[in-house]
Amino acid sequence: MTTTEKDPIYVTEALIAEDIDAYLDKHQHKTMLRFITCGSVDDGKSTLIGRLLYDTKMIFEDQLASLEKDSKAVGTQGGEIDFALLVDGLAAEREQGITIDVAYRFFATEKRKFIVADTPGHEQYTRNMVTGASTADLAVILIDARQGVLTQTRRHSYLVQTLGIRNIVLAINKMDLVGYSAERFNEIVKDYSHFARQIGMETFLPIPISGLKGDNIAARSADMPWYEGPTLLQHLEEAPVNSARMQEGPFRMPVQWVNRPNLDFRGFAGQIGAGQVRPGDAIRVLPSGKTTTVKSIVTFDGDLDLAVAGQSVTLTFADEVDCSRGDVITAAADPCEVADQFEATLVWMAEAEMLPGRPYLLKIGTQTVTATVTEPKYEVNVNTLEHLAAKTLGLNAIGVVNISTDRAIPFEAYATNPDLGGFILIDRMTNATVAAGMIHFALRRSQNIHWQAVDIDRNAHAALKNQKPTVVWFTGLSGSGKSTIANIVEKKLHAMGKHTFLLDGDNVRHGLNRDLGFTDADRVENIRRVGEVAKLMTDAGLIVLTAFISPFRSERRMVRDLMAEGEFFEVFVNTPLSVAEERDVKGLYKKARSGALKNFTGIDSPYEAPEEPEMVVNTVDLTAEEAADRIVAALLAR
Ligand code: ADX
Repeated sequence: MTTTEKDPIYVTEALIAEDIDAYLDKHQHKTMLRFITCGSVDDGKSTLIGRLLYDTKMIFEDQLASLEKDSKAVGTQGGEIDFALLVDGLAAEREQGITIDVAYRFFATEKRKFIVADTPGHEQYTRNMVTGASTADLAVILIDARQGVLTQTRRHSYLVQTLGIRNIVLAINKMDLVGYSAERFNEIVKDYSHFARQIGMETFLPIPISGLKGDNIAARSADMPWYEGPTLLQHLEEAPVNSARMQEGPFRMPVQWVNRPNLDFRGFAGQIGAGQVRPGDAIRVLPSGKTTTVKSIVTFDGDLDLAVAGQSVTLTFADEVDCSRGDVITAAADPCEVADQFEATLVWMAEAEMLPGRPYLLKIGTQTVTATVTEPKYEVNVNTLEHLAAKTLGLNAIGVVNISTDRAIPFEAYATNPDLGGFILIDRMTNATVAAGMIHFALRRSQNIHWQAVDIDRNAHAALKNQKPTVVWFTGLSGSGKSTIANIVEKKLHAMGKHTFLLDGDNVRHGLNRDLGFTDADRVENIRRVGEVAKLMTDAGLIVLTAFISPFRSERRMVRDLMAEGEFFEVFVNTPLSVAEERDVKGLYKKARSGALKNFTGIDSPYEAPEEPEMVVNTVDLTAEEAADRIVAALLAR
């Protein structure tokens, strides 16, 4: 296939040659379509991407940012590069690029700019696909015409559908290898339609192509006169972009930051996620629900009469209404919902499995809150669409869970507005993104269960007992001496007339937590419950002592966060493993070493030592009595 005089590409080249500034300027004002290609290496993904770059004469792989900054990067002349070499290069890079999550490639035509997210296709890279697809306007699902619809195809389609991409191209590739057969094409389309219906995909556009030969990519194929639809590039040029679609909804703008250069100016900056706004519009700030009107829309290029989805602006208000980062400004008459419990789909993206009950950071819109996840209601087998029972989610698993956040947040269903319905979960200790999520709806109970204010509150309880409620949290290996020391501390406090209560691991596990074992997930739940109980006891005015291994930093931190400032006193009973093992008071270390006891802390289950405990006691140099004296002294000093 060769390009002809009439090709838009020629015009582009001429323009680049004539006036690079005019070219760049033109570039600036084009819309940008983001899309993702899904398919395994064998489906010809690299060839297709190579063909798009080659046919549009845009051979460079850097991201758009570098293009816009560096005009020299524009328009490397693709015609001079051998097509086969180019594809080999892309494929080789992809192979080595297992460590690169997603490679973004840029190209442009007369009408539009494009960013294509090139993701590895193997099963284990679900998370890469999710990363690439999260901002995509469109997805190209590649099928090898000889193979037809494969398990991979179904998996990719399900993911794309779940991630809310509504513009799907089914690129049936390698048509040259099936003799450009209309019959084969129709057969595959029929097959795929059946599956598409199952997953609720309303429409898709099938295009017969050959990435290698260039059929129906930039130019119509002479070998497939029976195909009357658009070429791939034509469709990419004409497909609606999300920001255009979002302009139709009611106004939504998550606040990124508050702009207050001086006392006379207070503006709220952000990118409009949906709808439009004009000065004078009535707006509502969520979650507070306060209303006011827009006074002005400020930008670098002056004030605007109208701003729409996709634009970054600063709004000023007619009244002094509280509004801060993470709040969402909405149309007054059509606000979004506010809740703190949701049902959501999660795509788990970390090696470490999901731990129900562990607090994760949840980032949604422009705000970050703390959230916990329940056990999955079910996991989805993405190959068969079956719902499976599951206790947790592992790497690349997709499941439906309930989520609760530590405070109410403005949101919308992901299907309505990916901006306010899509979120990620972050591990608080490692800062790694562990999951991507999509909100379905708020749980009714989050609206219907309210905190009941009582008259005899924690201050009243504490005052009567004449003490400051505190949790003294002992952590350390099994056999380190936690219970022994806690027991002595309690006796001393009791003797001083203090009202105390001791929660001990071995005892609590006989009652409240008798359904829990020693897997990571069960230990997380153990500590979550103990934390909540300890909190209730401090509300009753008590000084609570707890003696649990509590091996994970995350959960100890969670309990610390539950308590008021200065009411959590963490004691690390720092007995080395060798010493605890030698003592082996309960004979458990011996059992664990022999393999008769699994998941034993310090042997085949981790212990994460505290980083900044209020106190460390060393039971090698100190007796339990001495350790207890130090703790009591420190408590009294507070
Ligand atoms: S925690 O890890 O969930 O905080 P917890 O303090 O409640 O543990 O219980 C620990 C006690 O359970 C130990 O002191 C020991 O007597 C007993 N135990 C039984 N099996 C295990 C195990 N696999 N790992 C640690 N402790 C165990």
